[in-house]
Amino acid sequence: MCGIVGFVGVEHAALPQLLDGLKRLEYRGYDSAGVALATPAGIAVRKAKGKLSALEGTLGTLPVEAPCGIGHTRWATHGRPTDENAHPHLDCHGVIATVHNGIIENYQELRQELLDLGHRFASDTDTEVIPHLLEEYGANEDLVRAVRLAEKRLKGAYAFLALSSRQPDQVVAVRRSSPLVVGLGSGENYLASDFSAFLARTKRAMVLENGDMAVVTPTAVEITDLQGYPQSRDVLTIDWDVRQAERGGYPHFMLKEIMEQPEVWGDCLLGRTDGDRVVVPELGLAPEQLDGIRRVQVVAAGTAYHAGLIGKILIERLARVPVTVDVASEFRYSQPVLEAGTMVVAVSQSGETADTLACVGLAKALGYPTYAVTNVVGSTVTRESARVVYTHAGPEIAVASTKAYTTQILVLTLFALALAAAKGRPRPDLVRAIRRVPNLGAQLLADVAGIQAMAKRLAESRDIFYMGRGLDYALAMEGQLKIKEISYIHAEAYAAGELKHGTLALIEEGTPVVAILTEPTLAEKTVSNILEVKARGAEVWAVVDRALARDLPADHIIPLDLAEPELAPAVAAMVLQLLAYWAAVSRGEDVDQPRNLAKSVTVE
Ligand code: G6P
Repeated sequence: MCGIVGFVGVEHAALPQLLDGLKRLEYRGYDSAGVALATPAGIAVRKAKGKLSALEGTLGTLPVEAPCGIGHTRWATHGRPTDENAHPHLDCHGVIATVHNGIIENYQELRQELLDLGHRFASDTDTEVIPHLLEEYGANEDLVRAVRLAEKRLKGAYAFLALSSRQPDQVVAVRRSSPLVVGLGSGENYLASDFSAFLARTKRAMVLENGDMAVVTPTAVEITDLQGYPQSRDVLTIDWDVRQAERGGYPHFMLKEIMEQPEVWGDCLLGRTDGDRVVVPELGLAPEQLDGIRRVQVVAAGTAYHAGLIGKILIERLARVPVTVDVASEFRYSQPVLEAGTMVVAVSQSGETADTLACVGLAKALGYPTYAVTNVVGSTVTRESARVVYTHAGPEIAVASTKAYTTQILVLTLFALALAAAKGRPRPDLVRAIRRVPNLGAQLLADVAGIQAMAKRLAESRDIFYMGRGLDYALAMEGQLKIKEISYIHAEAYAAGELKHGTLALIEEGTPVVAILTEPTLAEKTVSNILEVKARGAEVWAVVDRALARDLPADHIIPLDLAEPELAPAVAAMVLQLLAYWAAVSRGEDVDQPRNLAKSVTVE
């Protein structure tokens, strides 16, 4: 939630760099945005409610040549999205500016204290206590010292950048849980919530750790802990292709990301099978250690949770190891009962979801091995977990997750196959077949006109029900989330057999029901459920394995060429993604930046 950027240079002006960075971070929040530039005459700030384009309209009289500044794109937590609540926030005298991501939990108490001391506040945000605290602690003379003192007073999970017009060639940054990375340029340096903000300019980066403070100037990055003791952080080379973080001719990132799935599936699977065997060395487990796993606990949020549900079915079916999947925000407060031999797997595209990270912390504290399945190199979950398996989906920019989800499914499938082999239940047929999945995906995407036409009709619905059994039920859950997220149509997913325990009462003439049938052994049962809803007037849209499509009593059919049922989810998911995408486009919605949402949920 919220994206923050900082730039300090000599030759280049900060403003264009900040705006470019904010554009790339806009997926993290987009209800208001702002920038602050340091000039010896004071801090120059512009901020505006709405998307970045609204801010761009206010920049006219800024001192464009200023070489040092900070910026912010917001997802509101404290205070409505307004010009006043947009960041950066200033102290009473306009000398210090701060941008912040996360939550200052004790802000009310601090605000009262600062009000009593005579400070004047201009917003309803928790953030604004930071510049006033800095002012109180003498930032006018020494920003670094003031940051150190002020930070001791803050409670919560956050990252912030501070800028002072008295020292206009440096940005001071603090990381306490919320992500923050440093980009290393030549004669200029960057700070940002994630790499994508500066990837077009430099691929050399450092990830700050919790409790790090960085003082960044054009020629130096000094990292210390908050007591001032020097810390050293590895310099990483980020190998993401910057073009992957651009739209590349597509009208939306979401469509681009859907379309590039077959290619990223190839990247995800590359080198992870060898003949009939799965090889995922990152797991760091020899077959005998895998055999020691008695139970798997998956924790995740949103779409990643839905990938976990697919993983559960596959691991239980193939390896006969019990799996529990929990929504991270519930698990962390559930006083979980874990037993010896449990492996805790956190699935997270960004690796920054606050609840998922809290679960990893909890599992670690309880002494269980933690594994992360994530897309983002250097993200917090990679440092908190004992082992990491990357999904290699490349940067995912659209808020609605697509390629990250299907690569999570593939990684969990590989894990299920590795575990199955270790438990004496190898499935060489599936290991060989998984290599064909990218081709099947490409085949599906070669002709999507039928899906587009269906989506246009579905777009007119007020409510849509999704149903399926087994893997198809897990897919149905993702299908309904996708359409809700971006088209704002009310949608619900049901285990097909469960419909008649209540929800059937909602089916009336013309109610759209999307039925998913990729599991041959369960198809007959789902067909009965299709007949039940049709008998009550439903219009049924079937997403179905071509082999099961004959005589299907559905009104509309999207037949799919699939591999074995265990390998069908990634391909079938693309149909649900495309339905959601074109439904949203046809309703004229903002596909990549749906209202009220953000890509990375770094607050509870
Ligand atoms: C947000 C995003 C979802 C994502 C979820 C979990 O809600 O909009 O697309 O699935 O967070 O994010 P993570 O990065 O942990 O996978």
